[in-house]
Amino acid sequence: MSKSLLSTLLALGVVLSLGACGSQPEDTHPDQPVSKRKAVFKQIMRTLEPLGMVAREREAYNQQAFLAGALELKQLSTRPWAHFTPDSNYPPTRAKAEVWLKPAEFKQAQQHFVTATEKLVSAAQGGDLDLIRPAVKAVEKSCKACHEQFRGGI
Ligand code: HEC
Repeated sequence: MSKSLLSTLLALGVVLSLGACGSQPEDTHPDQPVSKRKAVFKQIMRTLEPLGMVAREREAYNQQAFLAGALELKQLSTRPWAHFTPDSNYPPTRAKAEVWLKPAEFKQAQQHFVTATEKLVSAAQGGDLDLIRPAVKAVEKSCKACHEQFRGGI
């Protein structure tokens, strides 16, 4: 992605989140499945970020720290899905209706992601950066593929 596109997206994100401030509905569902899954996704993103930095050589590689991150990501990879309950398509979700209309495909996208994190753990155990880099990319690709099909907004 080019730098200018990235800054445009960031600017857009800022504008959208400012706009959403007053207008985003509260999660009033008694079990709050939308808030729960969003919290897991945020944790997933926070866990992936430093691994991505290592893969892009913006941070030094430390085998133990990297493996710990990969293991955490693997654990987290199975956690959001139980919160996509049949009655959980309500604001403030950004999930598309396809989540509920195409359950088999949604499940498959989850499986791609879970498998990609398992492969990342194997690569992290091996400690070979030349195998780790593509494994991180594969995880990122699995996030993106699912978001394109099942998540709305930017
Ligand atoms: C199988 C589908 C799927 C996969 C795989 C997936 N996501 Fe998501 N993600 C979603 C959906 C659907 C939402 C919208 C949830 C909602 O708003 O109810 C979402 C939301 C998010 C959010 C926004 C949370 C918020 O506060 O609104 C982040 C951040 C995120 N995902 C990061 C990731 C990252 C990083 C990965 C991969 C490491 C990933 N996701 C993998 C489907 C997926």
